[in-house]
Amino acid sequence: MNVCSDMACHVNGADALRDGLAERFRGMSASDVAVGKVSCLGQCDGAPAVSINDHVYRGVTSAQAEALVLTALGGRPLPEMPVDAPMVGLSPDPYGAGERYGAVRKLAAAKDFEGVIAQLKAAGLPGMGGAGFPTGMKWEAVRKAPGDVKYVVCNADESEPGTIKDRFIMHNLPFLVIEGMIVAGLVTGARQGIFYIRHEYGAQERIIEDEIHRCYEAGLLGENILGSGLSFDLEVFVSPGGYICGEETALIEAIEGKRAEPRNKPPFPVYDGLWNKPTALNNVETFANVPQILVNGIDWFKAQGVAGLAGLKFVGVSGDVVNPGIFVIPMGTPARDVILGLAGGIRDGKAFKAFAPSGPSSGYLPASLVDTRLDFKSMAAIGSMLGSGAIVVFSEERCMLDMALNALEFFRNESCGKCVPCRVGSQKLVDIVTGWTRGRGTVADMGLVDELSSAMKLASICGLGQFAHSPLTSVLTHFRAEVEEHILRHRCPAGVCPL
Ligand SMILES: Cc1cc2nc3c(=O)[nH]c(=O)nc-3n(C[C@H](O)[C@H](O)[C@H](O)COP(=O)(O)O)c2cc1C
Ligand code: SF4
Repeated sequence: MNVCSDMACHVNGADALRDGLAERFRGMSASDVAVGKVSCLGQCDGAPAVSINDHVYRGVTSAQAEALVLTALGGRPLPEMPVDAPMVGLSPDPYGAGERYGAVRKLAAAKDFEGVIAQLKAAGLPGMGGAGFPTGMKWEAVRKAPGDVKYVVCNADESEPGTIKDRFIMHNLPFLVIEGMIVAGLVTGARQGIFYIRHEYGAQERIIEDEIHRCYEAGLLGENILGSGLSFDLEVFVSPGGYICGEETALIEAIEGKRAEPRNKPPFPVYDGLWNKPTALNNVETFANVPQILVNGIDWFKAQGVAGLAGLKFVGVSGDVVNPGIFVIPMGTPARDVILGLAGGIRDGKAFKAFAPSGPSSGYLPASLVDTRLDFKSMAAIGSMLGSGAIVVFSEERCMLDMALNALEFFRNESCGKCVPCRVGSQKLVDIVTGWTRGRGTVADMGLVDELSSAMKLASICGLGQFAHSPLTSVLTHFRAEVEEHILRHRCPAGVCPL
């Protein structure tokens, strides 16, 4: 069995759970029970999460985990975990109880493909996988690219700590995601779509398979969609597993049956993607936004945000909050309203110390920045990112250097090793910070961290290596006094590090 060791699980007793279970099963042979660590399982709102024989469980106590292991050892089938709760509050579903797939029906009849691109551009729909690249431009590039063979790919790999929104969207709004993919196929001229999903999302995979099946039965997929003469096929591909498998070009390599390592860019997938053909690759939430815009209209979409911003945003909140979960918010909502409002504030009456707006890549921000709006520009303006809306919250009990180390270890573990700056640099950063949390190291190491970070930023092939420094550099920026206490006085102010 493996216990998740990343951000939300780390602050929810994962280490103690793992150590306790390792002790409990210490006498057994490793071929019967091996207790180890695993990277984020996508259950941050139900931390701590464990994986037993590839079955994922959330919110488990030591006794529950032990009982599950004994079930497996006894050769009995492991139970399935309950899936997501229904969506409450704001809903992006444009259909309600009415007939679904209205955007595909309209497009199949009118064939106004350029009109769809114009609407997506006018709405300003950003990609929701993290980078915020304009979706209309991406689809236009694929549509205009020469050649008859093109592809549409949905990225449902969702493996960065704190990122849980796509799981929830697939559970509650699978029909919007599939409709967005069909529209992308018709607009770009792709005849084949691939739904790429992480292997730990078995329940969501079945939901998507069922939805695809229903679409084939209803003539919304396959040959001659709704008698239009247009065709589009859709199949599910299960990711081999690992954070890097969600990087768009590594994902393409994985589908092609190769090792999931990023390609050098350019060329970009819109020109040279899957099987070297033009490929429209988008995140789950991006596709789900497309029918909202096409059915409800641009004015509706623009009116959903606040402070002049457009659309709704799914965010996951985990860590030290009263109500961890996934929430639908107007784009541009201040982080305060989400963390201290929807998520119920800090649990156990503790003080609010810090938050990561988007998992380890975004770095850590102090509670004093909680009035920053959750949108791409506002977060970039304070040196962070909206990313995939993976908000992880920390109380006064947490040591931010320990949290930096936890995130650095994630990047080090998940680095694919293709390029030297990331492969060697991520290990070096872990070594330096491990030293600081153990009473070794000096202030001179800080200069080394600066040099290493800029080399990794400049010379790494993909976003993993380029952002791997963020947890540490953000802590050095915002929590420097806490770091200096470790290095100069060998004291962890939060009493977490083994000094
Ligand atoms: C290491 C790494 C992991 C990524 N994982 C995901 C992921 O799980 N899901 C996702 O949509 N995008 C992920 N991305 C971003 C994708 O490369 C790509 O930008 C995105 O899927 C494009 O979709 P969008 O334009 O709709 O945002 C990842 C990027 C990197 C560098
Ligand atoms: S930056 Fe890291 S994860 Fe990305 S290709 Fe290089 S070694 Fe692999």
